[in-house]
This record gives sequence, C-alpha cells and structure tokens, in this order.
Amino acid sequence: MENLDSKRLPKHIAIIMDGNGRWAQEKGQDRLYGHFHGVESVRNIVEAAAEIGIKYLTLYAFSTENWDRPAAEVAGLMSLFVDTISKEVPSLHKNNIKLHFIGNLALLPEDAKKALEKATETTAGNTGLELIIALSYSSRWELIEAIQKLAQQVKEGLLLPEDIKEANLSAALATSGFPDPELMIRTSGEYRISNFLLYQLAYAELYFTETRWPDFRKKDLIEAILDFQSRERRFGKTGQQVQTNDENK
Ligand code: IPE
Ligand code: IPE
Ligand code: MG
Repeated sequence: MENLDSKRLPKHIAIIMDGNGRWAQEKGQDRLYGHFHGVESVRNIVEAAAEIGIKYLTLYAFSTENWDRPAAEVAGLMSLFVDTISKEVPSLHKNNIKLHFIGNLALLPEDAKKALEKATETTAGNTGLELIIALSYSSRWELIEAIQKLAQQVKEGLLLPEDIKEANLSAALATSGFPDPELMIRTSGEYRISNFLLYQLAYAELYFTETRWPDFRKKDLIEAILDFQSRERRFGKTGQQVQTNDENK
C-alpha cells in the first residue's frame, strides 16, 4: 500500500466481479457456494477502497442478462442480496459509506426492493466512499432509458435536438452525478465488458486478472491500482503533449 501514489489515485473504480461459479465448481461445490463466498470479497474490497481513499466504487453484481440463468441460481442470488444488504448496512453506515443502486430495479422481488430502498435512505447523508451497486443492470438498458428521457423532453418542447450534448446524455444515465470510472477491473480471466458502463468507460484503463472473484482481496486491488499508476493516459493526445503539458507539441 505504501507504494501507491496518493496523488494519482483513481477517483472511481468499477469492477466486474466474475468467476464465482467456476471458483465453486473447482471445489466441487455448487455455484451458489461461490456467490456466497464472493460476498467476503465485496466486504474486503469495500473496506480496502475506503481505506485507500477511493471516492467512488461501482460493483457489477447482477446483469440484465443474468435473469436468464437457471431459476434456482437467480432465486439464490436474490435472497443473498437481501440478506447481505440487510446485514451489512449497519457497518457500512458506521463507516460513513453512501450506497447507491443502479439498474432496472423494478424487476427485483419486493423484499429486495425494500432492502435497497432502506439501505439507500439510511446511508443517504454519508460523506465517505460512494458505493454503487449495479443490479439488474445493463448498459444498453441504461442507454435506451436515457434516450427515452431525452426524447420526452424534446417532445415536451423543453429541449432542442441540437442542444443534446454530452452533459445532457450523462445526466440522463443511471450514473448521473458520478464521474466516469478511470479504472475498470474484471476478475477471472474474461476479456470482455459484458454490457457494463459502455458509455462511461470510454477512457477507462482496463485491468484483467485471472484471480477468481472469491479470491480477490485488498492486495489484488492495490496491484491493479499500481498497474493503473504505471500507465500513461493520453486521451487522444501525443505522449509528448501529456508529459510536457504542452498542447502545441
Ligand atoms: C459472477 O460470477 C457473479 C454473477 C454474474 C452474478 P459468475 O456466476 O458469472 O461466475 P462464472 O463466470 O460462471 O465462473
Ligand atoms: C458479468 O458477468 C456480470 C456480472 C459480473 C454481474 P457474466 O458472467 O454474466 O458475463 P459473461 O456472461 O461471462 O459475459
Ligand atoms: Mg461469469
């Protein structure tokens, strides 16, 4: 941790927590056993992120496409969410963490919706780490929602089509108010985005690790941040421009 440059920390880290099922199957257990152990990694990483001084952490917990998994796995995951959220809120609250949920939450069972609302309300006044859980989330769902919102504003005469700019679109997304992630981590050796924050990840640094999510711990997060800090972020400019801070080079 002492090797981290505290002045160059990513403000926002997003994680695709993948590999629970394989982790369990490698141990001869069923997939839910892996999801259950994945919660320990969530606890560890949330704590570590807060300690390191990360301001925003987005965790991909369940995608729109994950609804198509076997009914027993979906039901097991839903009850795990409800249990975990209810159990963890007191300590999250004590640690000044503010919770947000993004996704098509209308699809969630009633008890899950209630647990999320309560967790959001309880932690609404907190000023520490902003923890964003993507649940029943997909980026294409989010973009369609946003486009519908903007189209409605145009229809009502509140917005001209030519006035639609990055700022309006960002504000219409589920992530409105959060800066774009600078670092995106995916565990378990899969090199894809799987419908996660497609718009927001435009200039994120991508970090992939073979480590399965239930094995991912603080030291792995630090390794990812160190890797991030070793990269040169150019945003379309030349390396020379970035190094000298001179736009004309
Ligand atoms: C990630 O682990 C958790 C969810 C998608 C809910 P997986 O369940 O995708 O685990 P693998 O990829 O099958 O190993
Ligand atoms: C992405 O993982 C979704 C979450 C981690 C919640 P998946 O395991 O569902 O993604 P694919 O199917 O391998 O692309
Ligand atoms: Mg997976």
